[in-house]
Amino acid sequence: MKTTVLANQKGGVGKSAVAVQLAYFFHLIMGKRVLVIDFDHQRNSSKALKTGGIATVSQMPASRLLTHKVGGVEDAEFVLVAADNAELLKMEKQADRHNSFASNLQSFLQAVHNDFDVCIIDTNPNPDIRQLSSLVVSDYVLSPLQLNQEAIDGIGDLLNHDTIGIRKIKAAINPKLELIGILPNLVEPTPFQRDNFRELSTHFAKLLIPMDVGFAAIKKTTAVPEAQAAGVPVWKLGKTSGRDAWTQIKPVFEKIASIMEVQ
Ligand SMILES: Nc1ncnc2c1ncn2[C@@H]1O[C@H](COP(=O)(O)OP(=O)(O)OP(=O)(O)O)[C@@H](O)[C@H]1O
Ligand SMILES: [Mg+2]
Repeated sequence: MKTTVLANQKGGVGKSAVAVQLAYFFHLIMGKRVLVIDFDHQRNSSKALKTGGIATVSQMPASRLLTHKVGGVEDAEFVLVAADNAELLKMEKQADRHNSFASNLQSFLQAVHNDFDVCIIDTNPNPDIRQLSSLVVSDYVLSPLQLNQEAIDGIGDLLNHDTIGIRKIKAAINPKLELIGILPNLVEPTPFQRDNFRELSTHFAKLLIPMDVGFAAIKKTTAVPEAQAAGVPVWKLGKTSGRDAWTQIKPVFEKIASIMEVQ
């Protein structure tokens, strides 16, 4: 099982949308056994996947994977461990238990290692113990980002933040952690965004996801929020906008699968 976490301290950049659509891609198109864990108390991924009705919703709430030693989940090929609001919000305050949270999650992932091919973890945008634990146990991290100056300035934090910087975690706690890349999302064809993309490609090319031509990015499209609201894969929206969106998203997801060595 390969585990990837969607992480970025910025809110509303598409972590949940990418988590859900990537899960659909791995399961429905690549035929993989997929586990989704939603650690965000906003529950956006959980809502979309529950609405869609394709994933089996575990009886286990996500907070329990941190607070207890959990030895397995429901026997199904596409499972959601859904977010529970109140308990997830309590995690940060229990500082004396933080070490055990990460090790509980680690042992859960070891327990289900042979039951799934891919595990996708969605996180909240706060740099707290839920995000830290997820980064500590993951093989990969994928960071959607919006093309504004503030976000580009925030890339330093993404890598070097004191507690949840990817480089720091890789150096100190989880040497296997690899950055799949920064994924510009909600991209619009404005001069402002084009300039920001150019700046990103000039200064942070190594952090972007290389494609046959240029770097991976996902355009702003009505198909994504519509698919998320209906809980369906973008390509099954049954509209031209969905098919058009999928034409540009699919090669990006295929590239992510190849970086994760999921075949
Ligand atoms: N490519 C896109 N085009 C248009 N809308 C998008 C796109 N990607 C995401 N969205 C929409 O933008 C909003 C924010 O996306 P999402 O909830 O995935 O962000 P997030 O990073 O998970 O936010 P949070 O940090 O609050 O959890 C949602 O309504 C989502 O459907
Ligand atoms: Mg989210």
